Amino acid sequence: MQKQTKPLWIRHASQLVTLAGSSHQPRTGKQMEQLAIIEDGSVWLEDGRIRHVGTDREVAEACRGRLQEAEIIDASGKLVTPGLVDPHTHLVFAGSRENEFALRLKGATYMEIMRQGGGIHATTSATRRADRETLYAESKRRLDQFLLHGVTMVEAKSGYGLSLESELKQLEVAARLHQTHPVDLVSTFMGAHAAPPEYKDDPDRFVDYVIDVMIPEVARRKLAEFNDVFCERGVFTPEQSRRILEAGLRHGLLPKIHADEIEPYGGAELAAEIGAVSADHLLRASDEGIAMLAEAGVIAVLLPGTAFFLMAEAANGRKLIDAGVPVALSTDCNPGSSPTVSLPLIMNLGCLKMGMTPAEVLVAATINAAHAIRRGHEIGSIEVNKRADLVIFDVPNYMQLQYHYGVNHADTVIKSGVKVVEGGRLL
Ligand code: NIG
Ligand code: FE
Repeated sequence: MQKQTKPLWIRHASQLVTLAGSSHQPRTGKQMEQLAIIEDGSVWLEDGRIRHVGTDREVAEACRGRLQEAEIIDASGKLVTPGLVDPHTHLVFAGSRENEFALRLKGATYMEIMRQGGGIHATTSATRRADRETLYAESKRRLDQFLLHGVTMVEAKSGYGLSLESELKQLEVAARLHQTHPVDLVSTFMGAHAAPPEYKDDPDRFVDYVIDVMIPEVARRKLAEFNDVFCERGVFTPEQSRRILEAGLRHGLLPKIHADEIEPYGGAELAAEIGAVSADHLLRASDEGIAMLAEAGVIAVLLPGTAFFLMAEAANGRKLIDAGVPVALSTDCNPGSSPTVSLPLIMNLGCLKMGMTPAEVLVAATINAAHAIRRGHEIGSIEVNKRADLVIFDVPNYMQLQYHYGVNHADTVIKSGVKVVEGGRLL
């Protein structure tokens, strides 16, 4: 990433969506509609940080005497938002599974394909075989595409290695991407994505291996901040999931969980009991589970692209928000159930398939998403001293972002105060 020597001054945004006011905790209920919009908005960025935010007049006044120093970006007629944040991806993997997609279109189910050795197992074979360079190159390509859609930070899970060696390989590739790519990454260890074929007959022994071998080593090498498990009938039971998440906690890895994706299975309840940072999917979460999430303040990371792609009914975003659960949105980018990098499309599905409003989906993909990866103090809103991650969309207001769908409206992306996308192209 090149160095930005001059301050950057974004001027005259028709709407500057700041989302100010919830850096300490995620937005819930009615707060999810509060965007803190400034018209004729202006932002002054310097040394990678946001220095001044206000109307164009206010910022010009605050920076009086220095106006000549800045490089100006004219955002007239455009929308400026915080950089989008994707809090749930399986970014680092090799290969693709369009063959399974074709099978599903003919009626095969996701779980059937997995039981027959496809699904996560197919990607695990490909990822185990891939060398680090290939894995890096394939993942970098996806990360570039995320950036072109306005995403400036992603969470990335392991879980296609399912052996210590291959899980470390995935996590090391994620760490290298974080070092070398403009998009920031935060890693989640997901050794408990599925029991690999060599443990097929004794999944409990695999759980022991995750707990006794993989988690301690991943934590020792500081390769992940979070620990995730696929809690689903036929994958890991709630009891096994609890053991894995508690083991992570003992090693400083914060719990996340793939919960109630295919059937109601007590995942939401477990997330609340264990104090997970987020419970993700929740298509089939029980009413009791939803109430418990609200009570415990667990963030629901909803993935309507996955429901769309699996031809299932999406999670009830409306119900979760009305129940007081803080909601975030994510692509779930992965080669099986959601091969997309378009967080704006996911936001659109949030409106059309989950009963969320255009304001709520924007909150869910920025400040609440930042909280879902414990970065709410650092990113997710346009506030003084936060990291200068912003997107300029070529639409005049935030509603058009959802309304005019299927188009990538991201025009300019600024990462840590540096322009990295301009005119819809990577710089
Ligand atoms: O979030 N549910 C489990 N894991 C992924 C899918 C992984 C895959 O199919 O490769 C998900 O949907
Ligand atoms: Fe996932």
